[in-house]
Amino acid sequence: MEKEGRYALLVDGVPYLMLGAQVNNSSAWPAMLPEVWPAIEHLHANTVEMPVYWEQFEPQQGRFDYTVVDTLLAQAREHQVHLVLLWFGTWKNGSSHYVPEWMKLAPERYPRMTGADGRPVDSPSPYAKAALEADIQAFTALMRHLKAADPRRTVLMVQVENEPGTWGSVRDYSPAAQKLFEEPVPAKLLAALHKQAGAASANWQEVFGADAEEFFHAWSVAGYIEQVAAAGKAVYPLPLSVNAALRDPLNPGRPPSYESGGPTDNVIDIWKAAAPSIDVLTPDIYMSDSARYLKVLELYRRRDNALFVPETGNSPAYARYFFAALGRQAIGFSPFGMDYTGYANAPLGATRVNQESLEPFALNYRLIGPMMREIARLNFEGKLEAVVEEKGKPSQTLELGPWRATVSYGAPHFGFGNNPPGNPEPVGRALVAQLGDNRFLVAGFFCRVDFQVSDAASGNQRQFLRVEEGTYENGAFRPIRIWNGDQTDWGLNFTSAPQVLRVWLGTY
Ligand code: DGJ
Repeated sequence: MEKEGRYALLVDGVPYLMLGAQVNNSSAWPAMLPEVWPAIEHLHANTVEMPVYWEQFEPQQGRFDYTVVDTLLAQAREHQVHLVLLWFGTWKNGSSHYVPEWMKLAPERYPRMTGADGRPVDSPSPYAKAALEADIQAFTALMRHLKAADPRRTVLMVQVENEPGTWGSVRDYSPAAQKLFEEPVPAKLLAALHKQAGAASANWQEVFGADAEEFFHAWSVAGYIEQVAAAGKAVYPLPLSVNAALRDPLNPGRPPSYESGGPTDNVIDIWKAAAPSIDVLTPDIYMSDSARYLKVLELYRRRDNALFVPETGNSPAYARYFFAALGRQAIGFSPFGMDYTGYANAPLGATRVNQESLEPFALNYRLIGPMMREIARLNFEGKLEAVVEEKGKPSQTLELGPWRATVSYGAPHFGFGNNPPGNPEPVGRALVAQLGDNRFLVAGFFCRVDFQVSDAASGNQRQFLRVEEGTYENGAFRPIRIWNGDQTDWGLNFTSAPQVLRVWLGTY
């Protein structure tokens, strides 16, 4: 649901925040699930992203095997979590390694792309009609089955394919693709991009110049996936997503230095025009520096696109970005590789996955879990602000109408924080949400939050009328104590404890 460019994922009719975790690629097999659930429990995740493998789902053409999907549904319910299913279909990370064996053994019928040098590229051709038809049949079978087997909506969303596009070639150079490339750019795309055809033939090269090949490939891949998505949605209209292998948001370079054809930030408009059945285009963020991370969040949070981070690194440096996503009205956040199967995808994420490495993420969900519905609602109403610590920036401010909140890092709890040094590692994070006039919900880790009157010239100074710490039970705030004295005289100090405050401000 959308309101004034803000989004909410409605579950049981009210906004819901996906406190997510994605399992490793080969972990959604019944034999591996005992290594998955303990990690999910430790995290306090409420939503698990699990792949559905085409090779498992359709071992012989037209014969579908629902047993694994049914196991995922049953075990997710037992563990009281929702699922986002990832359809590992025609594309998985730019290749098609998850298509069934009967497809792999018929490369003429299900062709790969041809590179500029005429050699095959390990990426499926988006013009392969038989593959498209097969993917439509399989994906539709999956959606039809979910409709029948999941009336209680354990599955919230389905991702169609995984990081589609191509590594190693900007586009398909097969004769059939070349012919299309020389044809006029479709009027629908020109209209969506507010472009004039210009030259007489108005082919891709003429209209888009240096971007022509990449845009052509994005249009082709998105067009294929649209047909798969539309067919699935027609039988069961769940929200659908497509994830992107990103390009560098600050120094993007050119493909094939990044994956071509997927929903990278420069072709989001093309994807929106080509694939209207896809509700949300999502960034897989494996860049731990804050400049890049925050830029990616800005690029994917758009009036026409809800922000959802379906994958991000699982090393501790990434944990704080959950708050950065919240501060940009994200509907969900999901670190990758969250299970105890023994696999670790360093350098993208942690070198080892265990309770200790998951702890910084568990902190987030332990804090937000009990008030998840309230956070989702406040965010949907545009009332929540959040920040994360950035290296070399020991304090930050949030503007909240007549109030300014200052968030600082690394100062001792007792004493002025005029020159906070920053934490040894930038792990701080804070959120402030407006509950009413001069009333705020405040929470965070490894930081201090204080408030000042925005209008310094007024001469008014803030006083804490009351600072209540409480817990959430069944969505309702229950105060357990009032903070005062050392706990408020120098600002509100947050440690690794999952503390939530309700703060009433006044002036003197
Ligand atoms: C991004 C992909 O979408 C994931 O499936 C996985 O391969 C990670 N990269 C790397 O672990």
